[in-house]
Parts: sequence; C-alpha cells; structure tokens
Amino acid sequence: MTDRTYVGAVDQGTTGTRFIVFDHGGRVVSNAYEKHEQYYPEPGWVEHDPIEIWENTKTAITRALGQASIGPEQLEAIGVTNQRETTVLWDAESGTPVYNAIVWQDRRTTDRIEQLERNGAIETIREKTGLEPDAYFSATKAEWLLEEADPIKMERARPADVRDRAERGEIRFGTIDSWLIDNLTGEHVTEVTNASRTMLYNIHDLEWDDDLLETFSVPRAMLPEVRPSSDDETYGTTDPDGFLGAEVPIAGALGDQQAALFGQTCFDAGDAKNTYGTGSFFLMNTGDEAVTSDHGLLTTIGFQRSGEDVQYALEGSIFVTGAAIEWLEDVSLIESPAQTAELARSVESTDGVYVVPAFTGLGAPHWDQRARGTIVGMTRGTRREHIVRATLESIAFQTRDVAEAMEGDSGIEMTALRVDGGAVKNNFLCQLQSDIIGTRIVRPVVDETTALGSAYAAGLAVGYWDDLEELRSNWRVDREFDPELDAVAADERHERWTDAVDRSRDWARD
Ligand code: G3P
Repeated sequence: MTDRTYVGAVDQGTTGTRFIVFDHGGRVVSNAYEKHEQYYPEPGWVEHDPIEIWENTKTAITRALGQASIGPEQLEAIGVTNQRETTVLWDAESGTPVYNAIVWQDRRTTDRIEQLERNGAIETIREKTGLEPDAYFSATKAEWLLEEADPIKMERARPADVRDRAERGEIRFGTIDSWLIDNLTGEHVTEVTNASRTMLYNIHDLEWDDDLLETFSVPRAMLPEVRPSSDDETYGTTDPDGFLGAEVPIAGALGDQQAALFGQTCFDAGDAKNTYGTGSFFLMNTGDEAVTSDHGLLTTIGFQRSGEDVQYALEGSIFVTGAAIEWLEDVSLIESPAQTAELARSVESTDGVYVVPAFTGLGAPHWDQRARGTIVGMTRGTRREHIVRATLESIAFQTRDVAEAMEGDSGIEMTALRVDGGAVKNNFLCQLQSDIIGTRIVRPVVDETTALGSAYAAGLAVGYWDDLEELRSNWRVDREFDPELDAVAADERHERWTDAVDRSRDWARD
C-alpha cells in the first residue's frame, strides 16, 4: 500500500448516488453525486428506475476519479452501501429489470401486512427476522412484483411468466446492493445486513427461511447468495473491458445505516449512532446478542467480517426527517434546506405548532402504516417560520422517541450520541437535538460516514486497513453540542409532541 492508493465507496441512497474516494486516513479525496428521479405513480407508491441508478453510479464513479485525477488501478477495492429494503427483480441474462424498483417508503402492500396480522403470522415473522412486519421491508414488495408487476419494462413477459421464470432462476431478486454488484461484477450476491432487511432472512440461523419464502411465495431460485459485509474472498471484480477499465475487487457492502454504524466505528456493544438522511436511523451495536425489543425497535444485523460471528444491532427507523425539509422546499416554504436554521432561529418557539411528518406512515417506535402527515396547533398568527421550526423540531422529537426506546431495551443510559448524515451540517438542528434529548451530540469530522463504513468494509477485506484499531484512530470529533434547555421544559414539549403524534395516527383509508 502506498500513499497513492485509495478505496472507493458507492453510496446509493434514496435520492441519489454518490461515489467517494477515501485515502488511508479515512479522508475524503473526491466526491461526486448524481440525483435520480422519484416516481409516485399512485398515492403512497414510490418507485425508482434501476437503470437510471446504475447509469448514475457509473457517472459518479467516473466523475469522482476524474476530479482527483485518480486512475481506476489506484483503487485497491470498492465498497457498496445502499438504501435498504428497496426491491428490484431483473432478467438474469439480459440484466433488464422486470419493473421499477419498489422503494422502502412505498406503502402499496399495507393491506397484505394487515392480512398477515389477521392470519396470526406476525409473531413468527418477528421471531425469525427481528423485524416489525410492515410494508417497509422487501418481502411484500417482491410478492407484489411477482404477482402484479405490469411488465412494461420487459415487453415479452406476462406476470405469470415472471413467476415461472423466477422459479427457474431466470429472474433475479435483489436489494440495491445486489443490483449494483451484479452490474459491477456479474455475480448475484447480497450481504448479510441487507439480507436482514428483506423479511425473508432468518437472522438467528443466518439463512433464507423456508417458511417465510412459502408465506410470501418467493422462489428460492431467485435469491442471491448471502455473504459477509467485509468479504476476504470478495464478491467479484469489475470488468477490465467495462466502463471502469480496470479489475477492481468489490469487497465490502453494507446497508447504508449499518455502514454508518461501521463508519462511526461503533464496533463494540453499546456504541450508537443516528444518521439524518431522508429518514433517520438510530442504531446501537448489541454485539453477538440479538436483543429482542419490547419498545418497538427492530433487531437487525449490524455487520459481519469474513470468518467472524455476525454483530447484531437494535434499530429505531424513522421514515421521514430530511424528507420533511425537502417537503418544505416542495411547497415553497423555503428556497433551500440551508435556510431552515435562519428561519427557525428568527422565532423563539413554534408558538405551539407541531408538525408530524408521517408522510409514509410512522416507523419506530409507533409502527402505524396508516398514520399520515399532520400539523396541529396553528392559529391566525402562525407564520412559515413557526412551521419551519416545528419541522426541525419533529426531527429531534422523533429521535427522542427512539432514543427512549433504545434505553428501555438496552438498559444502557446514553451519555453521548454520534451523529452523521447531510442534516448534521445544520448547527441549529444539532443543538436542538441535544436540547430535546438531553444528551451530548457528537459530530465527527467526516460526516460521510455511510460511504466511509462501506469503504472500511472493503478495505479491511483486501488488507488496505489492518484492523479495527486502525479505523478507530481515524475517527475524530468535529464539534460537540451539550444540552442548553432545561430538562423539565424539554419533557413538557415532548409530551405535547406525543399528543400531536396521536392525532396523526390511523388516518389513511383505502
Ligand atoms: O431503510 C431505508 C434507509 O436505508 C434509507 O436510507 O439514507 O437513503 O435515507 P437513506
């Protein structure tokens, strides 16, 4: 390893795709981003075009390498991290998707989950997968694609044909990691943290679960092989005659939230982080114990290195945080996300307004698929500044809800919380978070911890980094925020927030 070698990471998120080149110190050397289209064909439906995502991945890689004049042969390895649960079915031979990707936020299979509840299937699913049965996960999306997908994209196929072909292994199922790795290497694999989000994978036995495959009528022949997050054998290599022009091993992959946990070097039981992206995802490492939640959290796989046991995590998945700021922009209450801090600061409080951004239902710890976005407490004097401030506060309150659940389940009282993701650049939000949660908030220098985590996974596999200690020494604090709000005032506001959440619940009807 010389100073002139690097590790790259593809970070394929809900709104766009990033490629970051990291050096041995875990510093960002170059960074390119491509946004992709969001499709909302019906209320509650969210889709992405997998081809567009793959094209953007290639563009981001090429641009990031170009920016820093780095040749592909200088990449020791590439890691992949991705929006989780989002489901793609594609033709094994041609690589053509059967239909658009159904995004994790998509609610089209809500009825199916309710049917499973009525059939008494919920407890078994919880036990086997650690997940709270919900349209969020891949299983019902795959089932929908096999039964209902309008085969616009693959003109010769009828839905029945798709199922028959899936039984014969001619159709591949995957989350976005699989889709990208297949395009990069031709191998049909996934890794264990992504598998743990499908609701088809048994997180205790560490295999695709026959009972669940039967419940969701998913043919085993269409499933990828499940591999460690950091894989010494690598998932495959890029094609030297392909777009990259070099043979680079793809050696690590993690679902984006687990990647952030790894990038924040939360390697030990009790270490926790919260990532503020489209949604927010609060994960705590629980070591080799799969802790069952009594407070509405998910039990999930945190990471696995080759030849080692899987490390589990507890997760509080909040569906809408950063997306609420995007919504403020969509409805022209702000011109850019950067404006939110200034507008929020310009008023002393929300004046009693609470925004509950339950646009796609509520995730942890409430789990209400039919909750919808709600604004309460408005008066004739309510200004946009109050709504903007209440939207930022909703991010902090939702995080407090999962932080309390996390403390309840783990019995560990948090003294500091590591944060990352786009929104933590906003100092106002970090301070607000510290005030509402009553805990020190710690922001690291490298806030692209998601990409960093998958780079670490890939780099460890090929020996670019030696061990976890070396990665720990790369982690540095940028800024810490300590609570300034009196705890009683924070509790009172949180109580009103809880009332507002109640108003948002069980709203959507068929
Ligand atoms: O579970 C969904 C999550 O992985 C999405 O992450 O960063 O794309 O909002 P992000």
